Amino acid sequence: MRAAWYERNGPARDVLVVGEMPTPTPGPGEVLVRLATSGVNPSDWKTRGGSRPMVAPRVIPHSDGAGVIEAVGDGVDRARIGERVWIWNGQWKRPFGTAAGYIALPSPQAVRLPDGTSFEAGACLGIPALTAWRALQVDGGVAGQTVLVSGGAGAVGHYAVQMARLMGAKQVITTVSSADKAAHAGADHAIHYRSEDVAERVRELTGGRGVDRVVEVDLAANGALLPKIVRQDGICACYGSGKAEVTLPFGPMIVSGAAVRFFIVYELPEGARREGCAQLNAWMEQGKLTHAIGATLPLADIVAAHEAVEAGAVLGNVVLHC
Ligand SMILES: NC(=O)c1ccc[n+]([C@@H]2O[C@H](COP(=O)([O-])OP(=O)(O)OC[C@H]3O[C@@H](n4cnc5c(N)ncnc54)[C@H](OP(=O)(O)O)[C@@H]3O)[C@@H](O)[C@H]2O)c1
Repeated sequence: MRAAWYERNGPARDVLVVGEMPTPTPGPGEVLVRLATSGVNPSDWKTRGGSRPMVAPRVIPHSDGAGVIEAVGDGVDRARIGERVWIWNGQWKRPFGTAAGYIALPSPQAVRLPDGTSFEAGACLGIPALTAWRALQVDGGVAGQTVLVSGGAGAVGHYAVQMARLMGAKQVITTVSSADKAAHAGADHAIHYRSEDVAERVRELTGGRGVDRVVEVDLAANGALLPKIVRQDGICACYGSGKAEVTLPFGPMIVSGAAVRFFIVYELPEGARREGCAQLNAWMEQGKLTHAIGATLPLADIVAAHEAVEAGAVLGNVVLHC
């Protein structure tokens, strides 16, 4: 099969190779998926760059993807052959991800892809969509609440704005850095975080109360704002940070009673994973989710794809055709 891989950490153009590799065979409990698409996420370039140690001498990157089940291993219902699927955790604690013609992985990690959903959209679900869902669902959900989605034009943020509404939030505010991003995010209110006083605008928009929940893309950059924008005893669900270390103002935080919930989508508890996958599929079947595919490239252009995601140069998800 055609695949992209790296055998050491480093810059995309120094370490990524595209070539031929043996097609895997599905082991017991596994399915073999012929991949149509592979999604590129920030985690993929960070891991390739060395943020996590190499899990094997050769790594095929990317955790997200979509395709069709072509074969199954022992113990998997043969009725799954021919099923369109989307994939989660393709390259989490496993060497071979989705930047390839095929992937063999445990059957539950290939989730049925609703008929009306494209393979391109299917490559955005495992990380961006499930992260957005978890950031809103964890610790009680957002029904009837006011939510601030930090960075609402991002891959995760764009889903989070939509899902906050779908989950019953009464007001969705976002922060952005441009008018284009404000339009793309589609929240009730967009605050331009580089030119406006975010705390003041949030207080204005919430009648001085603060938001019930912040969905945070960069806690290192925005942590100091938290006690000024979260209501008493509110929550920040944090899924990202621009820096390895985060500082929070202890005095104001303790007075605000705010909770900060950290999570990583790769490590969702089994029950939450099942609930999240079912919820995404239900929304897609009802035509309620809009997917932002910002760029599609052939697998051969994986270096350009990594560099684009690393530079934050594309509005929407970057997807490879395998
Ligand atoms: N915990 C998890 O499981 C998990 C899952 C997915 C992603 N992540 C992490 O979350 C981050 C975002 O991922 P993504 O795929 O959504 O990336 P993305 O598509 O590049 O989106 C990031 C968005 O955040 C905005 N942004 C950057 N700095 C900001 C700030 N200080 N305040 C408000 N907005 C800011 C960016 O726009 P501007 O630069 O124009 O403001 C951009 O719209 C990455 O660090 C990624 O590694 C974590």
